Amino acid sequence: MAGFVRELERRGGPALRLEQRAAGGVGCVVWDAALVLAKFLESGAGPPLARRAVLELGAGTGAVGIMAATLGANVTVTDLEELQELLKVNIENNKHLVTGSVRAKVLKWGEDVTEFQPPPDYILMADCIYYEESLEPLLKTLKDLTGPDTCVLCCYEQRTMGKNPEIERKYFELLQRDFELEKIPLDKHDEEYRSEDIHIMNIHRKPTNFPS
Ligand SMILES: C[S@@+](CC[C@H](N)C(=O)[O-])C[C@H]1O[C@@H](n2cnc3c(N)ncnc32)[C@H](O)[C@@H]1O
Repeated sequence: MAGFVRELERRGGPALRLEQRAAGGVGCVVWDAALVLAKFLESGAGPPLARRAVLELGAGTGAVGIMAATLGANVTVTDLEELQELLKVNIENNKHLVTGSVRAKVLKWGEDVTEFQPPPDYILMADCIYYEESLEPLLKTLKDLTGPDTCVLCCYEQRTMGKNPEIERKYFELLQRDFELEKIPLDKHDEEYRSEDIHIMNIHRKPTNFPS
C-alpha cells in the first residue's frame, strides 16, 4: 500500500521518520495532537522519561511513543490489530534513535489489560477522544491501567464541528468521576509545536479510587 513519510524534527539529532498510509483508518497518519505531545515531551518541560515505563494508547503511527523511546523511556505503543504493521515499520525505521526500548502490541480499549500490568509510570494519548462509542471502553482501560503513581498525559484537539464538543464534554465528565485533571498551560508547550486549540491534560487517579 502507498506510503508517505512525515518527518518529525528532534533537538537531539536526526528527525524521526514516520511512515503514513494513504489508505486505511484514522490511525494511519500523524495527527497534530501527536506532534504537540511528542514535542512537549522532547522540550524538557514534560516529565523525565529515561528508564520510565510508558504505554501509549491509540498510538496510530507511533509518533509519540517512539519520541518517548528516543528520550530513554521503555515504551509499549498500542493500537488495534490493523495498525500493528505500520507501528512495527515505524519502530524499525527509527530504532537507531531509540535510547530506551519500544515494542508494539494490540490493545483494544475496554478489553483485558493483564499483559500490560503492573501499571506504567506514564500513559500517553494523542487524539483519542473522537467517537462516542469509545468513551466508556477507553475510560475502563484508563482505570484498569492506572496505579496511584501513574500519570496520564492526554493531548487532544478541541473541535467545534458536529458531535465533537458533546463527545469531549462527556469524556471529561466521565473521566472526572475517577480522575483529577490539570491542564498544562500553553506556554509550557513546545514553542513551535503549539496551538490554542490543542490541549495537554495531566491526569491522575483520585486517591480514594483504588480497590482496598
Ligand atoms: C485520531 S487517531 C490518533 C492516532 C495517533 N495517536 C496520532 O495522534 O497521530 C486515533 C487512534 O485511536 C485508535 N483507536 C480507535 N478506537 C480504538 C479502540 N477501541 N481501541 C484501541 N485503539 C483505538 C485508532 O486506531 C487510531 O490509531
